[in-house]
Amino acid sequence: MSQQYPVPAPLKEFVNSNTMVVRSPGRINLIGEHTDYNNGFVLPAAIDKAVYVVIEKKEEPVYELFSTDFNESVTISANKVQPAFGHWSTYILGVVAQYQAKGWQVPGFRLAVYGDVPLGAGLSSSAAIECATAFALNELYGFGLNRRDLALLAQKAEHEFAGVKCGIMDQFASVFGKKDHVIRLDCRSLDYEYFPLSLPDYEIVLLDTNVKHSLASSEYNVRRAQCEAGVAMIQKKYPQVLSLRDATIDMVRECIPGDDIIFLRCKYVVEETDRLVTGCEDLQRGDLAAFGQKMFRTHDGLSKEYGVSCPELDYLVDAVRNHPAVIGARMMGGGFGGCTINIVRKEAVKELVNSLADGYKKETGLELKHYEVNIEDGSSRIS
Ligand code: GLA
Repeated sequence: MSQQYPVPAPLKEFVNSNTMVVRSPGRINLIGEHTDYNNGFVLPAAIDKAVYVVIEKKEEPVYELFSTDFNESVTISANKVQPAFGHWSTYILGVVAQYQAKGWQVPGFRLAVYGDVPLGAGLSSSAAIECATAFALNELYGFGLNRRDLALLAQKAEHEFAGVKCGIMDQFASVFGKKDHVIRLDCRSLDYEYFPLSLPDYEIVLLDTNVKHSLASSEYNVRRAQCEAGVAMIQKKYPQVLSLRDATIDMVRECIPGDDIIFLRCKYVVEETDRLVTGCEDLQRGDLAAFGQKMFRTHDGLSKEYGVSCPELDYLVDAVRNHPAVIGARMMGGGFGGCTINIVRKEAVKELVNSLADGYKKETGLELKHYEVNIEDGSSRIS
């Protein structure tokens, strides 16, 4: 049990001698965006913002859920689990449904949830709640799943109960995170390596646009389908290509007409997969400047080729592009709102954020929020 993470105040009243408390964090991703469902690589890390659940068994076959954030409770019979789209309970019930789908008994329980992962900010609050629930039920009933199985089960809950055909990055990072390390994950084999990330002179700063455009989940599934359509075109000539991970830029140029939108989508993904591989080499050499330039290129690809940015994200990246204290910046996560990730010299953070907030307000009428994040451990039982 981890002693490092205290039970957050809003959950203390639910803790007793029969309960256990599980923490599962949100994530950042340094580079490798929209590559996970194309079997490529990603470079995420778990952060110091997390979802916590307190759970205990109940005699009756009923799930009693309570969210401290929404001050709302939901009670569901064990044989009536179904999606509640857009509602916080869907992420918990989605996980229960996955355990049930394995043919396993999930007897009644009482669960209270609290989180400090900002919602809709692209930090994977949904993966955090799914992974916290998956981890907690696994512990409570001794199902014996390992971390990899837990991440896969939580991903499936997102597919089936939230309706987003996400890749594995968010759930994997939440479950496998390691303090002060990023995870270089091969999304084809699920092999992974931890890299120490030590940035003594820099801070990872997330700038939150404070918007989440409604396109986010529908367009996400469209991008996924466009990538599959691209693979089908390439396969006609190169049957060995099973995903964009196996394709080269020359194959993309040869097999997909340049004026087809699918060409731009696939070009971005193939180039991003390469960028991650060389970006990791930059980090290993300690060449942060080269890595930062790649972050800007990723942003341009996501914005102009992959089509998942938005004016608010573009504004924030353009505003820091030539700032001497900013090593690299880009939109992060699925897109259409949420945060940009910035690597910023420590001493310049305060001034940068203040000056951006003014400009952002003038440009969009919105408040700019920001988070300085630290890299922490993945899912664990904390009490
Ligand atoms: C969302 C998804 C992830 C990943 C990113 C984009 O966060 O949940 O699986 O595809 O978008 O990289």
